[in-house]
Amino acid sequence: MSDSIHPASTSFTDAANIKPDDYERLYRESVEDNAGFWGRIGERLEWFTKPTRIKDVSYAVEDFRIRWYEDGELNVSVNCIDRHLGERGDKTAIIWEGDDPADSRRISYRELHAEVCKLANALRNLGVKRGDRVTLYLPMIPETAYAMLACTRIGAVHSVVFGGFSPDAIAGRIADCGSKLVITADEGLRGGKKVPLKKNVDEALTRAGTNCVETVLVVKRTGGAVDMQMPRDRWYEAVVDGQPEACEPERMGAEDPLFILYTSGSTGQPKGVLHTTGGYLVYASYTHECIFDLKEDDVYWCTADVGWVTGHSYLLYGPLANGATTVMFEGVPNHPDIGRFWDVVDKHGVTLFYTAPTAIRALMREGEEPVRKRSRKSLRLLGSVGEPINPEAWRWYHEVVGDSRCPIVDTWWQTETGGILITPLPGAIPQKPGSATKPFFGIQPAIVDAEGNTKDGATEGNLVILDSWPGQMRTVFGDHQRFIDTYFKTYPGRYFTGDGCRRDEDGYYWITGRVDDVINVSGHRIGTAEVESALVAHEKVAEAAVVGCPHDIKGQGIYAYVTLNAGEEPSDELRKELVQWVRKEIGPIATPDHLQWAPGLPKTRSGKIMRRILRKIAENAPDQLGDTSTLADPGVVNSLLEGRMNR
Ligand code: PRX
Repeated sequence: MSDSIHPASTSFTDAANIKPDDYERLYRESVEDNAGFWGRIGERLEWFTKPTRIKDVSYAVEDFRIRWYEDGELNVSVNCIDRHLGERGDKTAIIWEGDDPADSRRISYRELHAEVCKLANALRNLGVKRGDRVTLYLPMIPETAYAMLACTRIGAVHSVVFGGFSPDAIAGRIADCGSKLVITADEGLRGGKKVPLKKNVDEALTRAGTNCVETVLVVKRTGGAVDMQMPRDRWYEAVVDGQPEACEPERMGAEDPLFILYTSGSTGQPKGVLHTTGGYLVYASYTHECIFDLKEDDVYWCTADVGWVTGHSYLLYGPLANGATTVMFEGVPNHPDIGRFWDVVDKHGVTLFYTAPTAIRALMREGEEPVRKRSRKSLRLLGSVGEPINPEAWRWYHEVVGDSRCPIVDTWWQTETGGILITPLPGAIPQKPGSATKPFFGIQPAIVDAEGNTKDGATEGNLVILDSWPGQMRTVFGDHQRFIDTYFKTYPGRYFTGDGCRRDEDGYYWITGRVDDVINVSGHRIGTAEVESALVAHEKVAEAAVVGCPHDIKGQGIYAYVTLNAGEEPSDELRKELVQWVRKEIGPIATPDHLQWAPGLPKTRSGKIMRRILRKIAENAPDQLGDTSTLADPGVVNSLLEGRMNR
């Protein structure tokens, strides 16, 4: 059933940017002459100095480099704003839809230009220079877009921290990249509830390593009371007021840093994924145009928060570089009621809609009626991102949300990849529910076994990418060796994605999920190591092991095994306290769904925790535990199985 094929309708295909016959030919060209292909695609941007050296890449560990458009010079804000002013000055760049349905605004490219320039001037006056890092901890409001673009205008490197992260998590990210300035808001507003953003920043700035911050700019969103510490804290409105509406853009090298975005890995603390200027923008804009079949009059809505990479590449940079109208939504899908997404679609005439499987599953649970009650006739294409979409959710999305009329692009990519790598091109590649289908132009995926041998034909294994693409991350901020070790050592000469994958007899790719110690909760990455270190930081905890477990809505949930210090007694109260503790240490997205007391953990004789066994216990699959004979104490397994029953 899940292999049923859905070609796009002829009316879609006839008007599509990439036609059925084009894909194979263009794909072949793109890999046979990769540099030539990306050289031509690079011309879509406006460069101060056109690049002549298109590609210089070596994945060999001893001679490692990734450089694209190296000698080109450009500015991202010029590409996202200024160059549209001639023909699209009055076109809406951003439709802002507030948490409250009565609250919305349209911002034209001309207005966007003025706002970005004013803030860029203000930042320069505050001493922010090219290369300086700026942390943004903001809700989904227009000022967030202004702030990101203003950083790019003056060559500052932004690091957006998702508004759901805790003071500790903010502090870690500020300290790691040494931010000079933080931009936040008094409070965020989501689903009618207030989020104390400024207060969280205040707390973060009391932590070690955050004394790099000289200034905190505060946007007034709710008008709630905040504690302004002078001279550090300044109101955004006050510093921007009276600034000129023009600002000379910095000429940036293509390989100059554009932004840092922290993401979880299988070990240690989150790493600062660094993207650079030229290649990233070429890749984000080109993929956005092809994959979403973008046309001049489209109203495009990506529901992701700008705190994640999807919000960077496909809410802001890709769409604006393409001169599109992009919707920015402050709220949540179920406020004021479960039909909010479709109300917004009808209100603004959204044509292209991009969301995550977790949202689709949550809406699906509420039945068809809230969807059917709204027209949705403007929709012509749907997208999915962040985790595998199960075929049932795919069908519901297709039949109910899209009235069986809209193709679905199931887009596979990662924070590290900067843009989409495996996806249908909606007019050219027939879809199969649950499959990300085929590689985008220039992308060469391969499937390998544990030893790194390439597996041909219909097969399953680990997903690697054989060659670079312009949107690829360039380094882990401050730790280049970690970048090489994490992605290029497991399978030398290839980029290791961390994902498992199946390829079927039609050459379609099916992502099966992470094969490392990363959990994908509602499309957000959480490192097991992060949750474990939060748990062991509690005074009563001796040891903790965390694994993912199946979850109907979130895709994966967090399952924690906790060993208490000698003398401590397990209790329901302590369980609640530990769950709250993790929320506080990392943020609500890391809240454990299950917490099981573990008198002991399954370890090998060398002391390594066998997570495979813990995963199977969490999944309640005791018959699939596999070989347990290498455990130092095989008896541990039975006591954990019993403990699970009594959880
Ligand atoms: O496991 C894959 C899953 O999300 C991971 C990347 O997470 P992150 O860096 O947070 O970026 C999410 C948004 C791009 C991948 O390693 N993933 C992402 N998209 C898909 C997916 N899994 C299956 N199908 C997808 N379409």
